[in-house]
Amino acid sequence: MSEPKISSAAREKRVFKPSAEFQRQANLGSLATYKKLHAESVNSPENFWGRQANEHLIWRKPFSTVLNWKTPHAEWFKGGKLNVAENCVDRHLGTVRENKAAIIFEGEPGDVRTITYKQLSMHVCRLAHVFENMGVKAGDRVAIYLPMVPEAIVAMLACARIGAVHTVIFGGFSAEAIKDRLNDCQAKLVITADGGWRRGKVVELKSVVDRALESTPSVETVIVLKRTANEINMVEGRDIWWHDAWKGGPNQHKAKAFDSEHPLFILYTSGSTGKPKGVLHTSAGYLLGAKLSAHYVFDLKENDRYFCSADIGWITGHSYVVYGLLANGSTVFLYEGAPNQPEPDRFWQMIDRHAITILYTAPTAIRSFMRWGDNYVLRHRLDSLRLLGSVGEPISPEAWRWYHHMIGKDRCPIVDTWWQTETGSILIATLPGAAPLKPGAAGLPFFGVAAKIVDEQGKEVPRGTDGKMVITKPWPSMLRTLWNDDARYQSAYFGDFPGVYFTGDGAKQDKDGYFWISGRVDDVLNISGHRIGTAEVEAALASHPSVAESAAVGRPDSLKGQALVVFVSLKTGVATSDALKEDLRSHIGREIGSFAKPDSVRIAAGLPKTRSGKIMRRILKEIAAGREVKGDTSTLEDFSVIAALQKED
Ligand code: WTA
Repeated sequence: MSEPKISSAAREKRVFKPSAEFQRQANLGSLATYKKLHAESVNSPENFWGRQANEHLIWRKPFSTVLNWKTPHAEWFKGGKLNVAENCVDRHLGTVRENKAAIIFEGEPGDVRTITYKQLSMHVCRLAHVFENMGVKAGDRVAIYLPMVPEAIVAMLACARIGAVHTVIFGGFSAEAIKDRLNDCQAKLVITADGGWRRGKVVELKSVVDRALESTPSVETVIVLKRTANEINMVEGRDIWWHDAWKGGPNQHKAKAFDSEHPLFILYTSGSTGKPKGVLHTSAGYLLGAKLSAHYVFDLKENDRYFCSADIGWITGHSYVVYGLLANGSTVFLYEGAPNQPEPDRFWQMIDRHAITILYTAPTAIRSFMRWGDNYVLRHRLDSLRLLGSVGEPISPEAWRWYHHMIGKDRCPIVDTWWQTETGSILIATLPGAAPLKPGAAGLPFFGVAAKIVDEQGKEVPRGTDGKMVITKPWPSMLRTLWNDDARYQSAYFGDFPGVYFTGDGAKQDKDGYFWISGRVDDVLNISGHRIGTAEVEAALASHPSVAESAAVGRPDSLKGQALVVFVSLKTGVATSDALKEDLRSHIGREIGSFAKPDSVRIAAGLPKTRSGKIMRRILKEIAAGREVKGDTSTLEDFSVIAALQKED
C-alpha cells in the first residue's frame, strides 16, 4: 500500500491505493474492469448474472429464466435445480481440494481439529441420513443452537443437503427468545450441545433449550452434541446424543436437487416492532451472491486461510464462515471462544499458530483490541496476514488506522463491507485490487448493486448530501420475504419508498461514488455489532410487573458503538431502587439474552410525550447522551419530566 503521509487526528483524508504487487495478484486488479463489469451488472443484469450463475454454481438442471421481478418479489434462476451442500462440499471431491482443510477449528480450551473437504462430506452425509431417519423432510424447519464448533457447519450443510430449512439461533439468546423463534417457524428438530466454552466457563446451552421447549409443541426431537461434558438432563423419547444418532451410519448420501428458489434458511433479526423478523433466504441466488462476493471482496486464493470472527448465529457467519467460503473451496478457521481468553492476545496467537492470511472482524472488536493495548499485538509476528476486513458498523478513522498499522503492518488492505441480514451478501465494498481504499467509507457498490441516496420524498440527492440509502434493483441474494409475514416484508422494506428497497441506513455518496454510511435511521440499535430493536426491548419490559411504560434508546459508546439506555416509568405504588433496576436488566436478559441487557436504566415518574401521547424519542436520545435538550420542544406535554430524567441516572 502506498501511504502519503499527513493526516488530521479527527478525520482521515488519505486514500490508500492498492500496491502494484497486490494489484498484480488480485482477482480483480483494475478500476476499469470493475467499472465495466459493474455497469454491465446493473444495465444488463440478466446477462451478467446468468453468466455468473453458470460459471460459479454446479447445476443439476439448467435454469430457464434469470430473473422474474414483480416488485417486491424476486425469483432468480427459475427452472434450475441444484443442491447447495453439493455446491459447498461435493464439488471439491475428486479435485486437488479433496484433502485440503475445509475447516481448522480451535476450541477455547486449545483443542485443535482439522477437517478436510473429504471428511466434511462424510460428516454431512452421515448427518443427512440421521435427519432423514428421523423423518425430517425437505421444507421442514430445523433449529441450530450450538457453539462455534465444526458440527454447527456440518448441521447447516446437512439441512441444505436434504432441503430442510435451518434457523440458527445465536448462543447468547435466552430460552424465551428461542421459544418464540421455534414457534414462529414451527421447528421440528433442534440441534444443540451440552454446552460451549466461553471465557473459561461452560455456557450451558442444553438447559436453556430445555426451558424453551416447555412450550414448543412442534419440536419432536433434540440432537445433543457432547462438547463440555457438563451434567445435563436428557428427556426420554425426545433427546438423543449426536454420537449415538450417527454411530455406524453411512458416509455417503445421494442428494436430491432442489429448485433455485427452495428455501435455504430463516434467520431472525431485529426490526422496528417488538417481534423479530424471520428473514427468508433461498438457494441459488443466495449462494451465488455469497460465493461471488467472497471471491472478489476477500480476493480469495487457493492457499488462503481465512478467519472470520463472527458467530454463525449471525448472517456474517452464514455467508462468510459457511456458504460463501466453502463454495469457493477455501480453508476456514473457526474459533469457539472469547478473544481475551486466556489473555487478550488470543486472536494474534492463533493467527501466527495457524498462518491465517485473511482476518474479517468488526469495529467493536477492533476497539476492544485497541483498549487492551498494543503490547498484546506486538508479541506476535502476524506476517502471514495479507488482507483485513471489517463489518457491522462504520469504522472510525482511528480504528482504521490502528487496524491497518498494528495488525496489517501497513501492508494489508482493509476491505470495509456494508451489508445486512436481509441482503444476504456484501453489497458495498471497495474491491481491494481495483480501487483506492478510503478509511471510514463502506466503499463502492458490488456487482449488481444499484444503490442510491434519497431524501424523505424518495428523490435522489446530489453527491455529498446526506440522505437515506435505497437499493433500486433486485439482487440475487436478497431476502425473498419474511417467514409467515409477507405483508410485513412489503411494508418494512418497500413501504417507505414504493418500488425500491429501503436499507434503514443513512448515508451519503461522495464525488468518486463511494458510500459513507452514518448508521441506522430507524429504531434499530447496533450494540457491539448486535442488532437490537428498541421495540423488542420495550416489549420485554412491558411484561415486567412493575413497569408502566418504557422507551429504549441508543447513546454513543466508545467501545460498543452504541449503548442501550432504557427509560422506565413504574406502576403506581412501586418504589424505585437499585435492586429493581438490576431486576429490570435481568428481566431483559431472560426475555432476549444477556447481550441485550441495558447499560443504564433510568426511572422517572413520566416520559416526555407529545400532547397526542407519543413518546418523544429524540429528547430521550439527547438526555441519554448527556446532551442539552435542544430543538423544538413546543409539542411536549409536560416539561418537568425532562428535568426529572436528567437528574436520574
Ligand atoms: C450496519 C451485518 C457501516 C448497518 C452484516 C446495517 C454497517 C446493519 C456496515 C446490518 C459497514 C453493517 N459500515 N454500517 N461496513 N456493515 N452495518 O443485519 O447499519 O446484523 O443496516 O448485518 O449493520 O446489520 P446485520
